[in-house]
Amino acid sequence: MRILFLTHSFNSLSQRLYCELTTRGHQVSIEFDIADSVSEEAVALFKPELIVAPFLKRPIPESIWARHGCLIVHPGIVGDRGPSALDWAIQQGVGEWGVTVLQAEAEMDAGPVWASAGFPMRPARKSSLYRNEVTEAAVRAVLTAVDRVAGGEFVPAGVAGQAHALMRQADRAIDWQQHGTAEILARLNAADGFPGVADSLFGEPCHLFDAWPEAELKGVPGELLGRRETAICRATRDGAVWLGHVRRAGGIKLPTTLAFAEAAALPELPLAGFWKSPHATWQDIAYEEAAGVGFLSFEFYNGAMSTTQCRRLTEAFNWASSRPTRVIVLRGGSDFWSNGIHLNTIEAAESPSDESWANINAIDDLAEAILRCPTQLTVAALAGNAGAGGCFLARAADLVWVREGVMLNPHYKNMGNLYGSEFWTYLLPPRLGEAGARDIMQHRLPMTAQEAVRLGFYDACLPGPGFAVDVARRAAELAAAEDFSSRLAAKQARRQADEAVKPLAAYRAEELAEMRRNFYGFDPSYHVARYHFVSRSQHSWTPRHLARHRDLDWNIPE
Ligand code: COA
Repeated sequence: MRILFLTHSFNSLSQRLYCELTTRGHQVSIEFDIADSVSEEAVALFKPELIVAPFLKRPIPESIWARHGCLIVHPGIVGDRGPSALDWAIQQGVGEWGVTVLQAEAEMDAGPVWASAGFPMRPARKSSLYRNEVTEAAVRAVLTAVDRVAGGEFVPAGVAGQAHALMRQADRAIDWQQHGTAEILARLNAADGFPGVADSLFGEPCHLFDAWPEAELKGVPGELLGRRETAICRATRDGAVWLGHVRRAGGIKLPTTLAFAEAAALPELPLAGFWKSPHATWQDIAYEEAAGVGFLSFEFYNGAMSTTQCRRLTEAFNWASSRPTRVIVLRGGSDFWSNGIHLNTIEAAESPSDESWANINAIDDLAEAILRCPTQLTVAALAGNAGAGGCFLARAADLVWVREGVMLNPHYKNMGNLYGSEFWTYLLPPRLGEAGARDIMQHRLPMTAQEAVRLGFYDACLPGPGFAVDVARRAAELAAAEDFSSRLAAKQARRQADEAVKPLAAYRAEELAEMRRNFYGFDPSYHVARYHFVSRSQHSWTPRHLARHRDLDWNIPE
């Protein structure tokens, strides 16, 4: 079928649906919901057989839904209506939730139901539920709905529903004197990603994000107990929570201690070393060991890796490689493995060019430490999505295993034509050939885990359920394998041989020469793109690589 996506943005859910539909042979083109007239133009150009709205913030105009079949993906169970579906479900602690695919009509989310899929709720952030359970359910429901539309026999039924109002900040407000930790976490989780919970810190208004539970610290409710790296700890009625990120009025989302210089005066509450804390607390880098395998996790918010985080992770990796293990598994975080350099901390720096330079060097240092590691076999295990430099950083490991369902965006061009680094010029050609490497870098579209393995970019795609257990088992087998020593020796020999042909330092210098031009040159594309990205600016047009119907050589269907 010819399917037009009308969407607010090409977010991870839309990307996944795009990949699932195109691999099934559907022809998908995308138009951002900018104005009714623009959407109408897209419909006229593409002449879709079906319109799908994976992520819309306002209704489809009647001029479109009255003439074309339009399916809306609603992140709520059958009968649920309204714009804050997931927010209410999380805040009210429901046990089961789901996704409904319904036909667009005059009343929002009230049309006949084409398909639905459910899932058990997990105590997690909205953004995490959205990227995992909601996305998986949406894939199931949309594929069913599309098959039903194609089949031509299914008659969707209308259902009685209950409309929920938009959740306002008054509904989200935290009473630090009265609310316990569980209630505060539910409120912060329900608002995570966007819009956050309006509150104040150090007497200044701000929105709170990125909450972590704390099992041991306590204090006077509402009191700021201390800081650790970039987070601060605040007492609740019955315990405490950590606040990792905030957005100050008129500002962008930043690590809390960066947004508030006053946090430096709080007492430091350090963790000793990298071992995973036995109780719940804020710990972004954590290490565990089992069966000759070291597991290094890095739970960086949104997968963004600042200069400091890269340096701390390099230190942790070097420490892990000094342990008497045979394999190191780089686990990344649960939602993201890595999205490359931290565009928000760069934007907030006094000199974004200097900070970009420091950040890319710090991530390259980490990639180099992984590449040069002589003592263990390394595995990047991607349970979460990866983008830009994060995709290539993973490739620095000897093996890359990726969870089925993970979305990859292995390209830099969308960020103002960045050239990219992380040794991609060294890592890609042997696996993909020169042309294949070039294709990946030019291709601005997302890629599924299966596609990455098919191309030879990554090594294995493992089923979603049980991924962590599967990774641990495979890593333990690798460590116990009879040929472990010869594999390690072969890796060392390969590195030496490669170094003799062309030193890593030369690849790095060439890539960084290009990046220097991106950061300091006269073309401001990267700075402009970064500004719009971190400010979450509204799109004013759909990029041409997404809006295929706007290609000059697009053949208007008869
Ligand atoms: N630095 C800072 N924040 C980042 C980030 C980065 N490198 N990558 C993603 N984020 C943030 C987004 O701003 C967004 O923030 P929010 O919490 O305010 O919503 C959040 O992570 C999720 O990103 P989003 O774009 O909504 O997720 P997605 O899954 O739809 O898209 C990507 C994933 C990777 C395609 C997209 O985030 C992206 O292009 N990131 C930039 C990658 C990049 O260019 N890195 C620098 C070069 S190495």
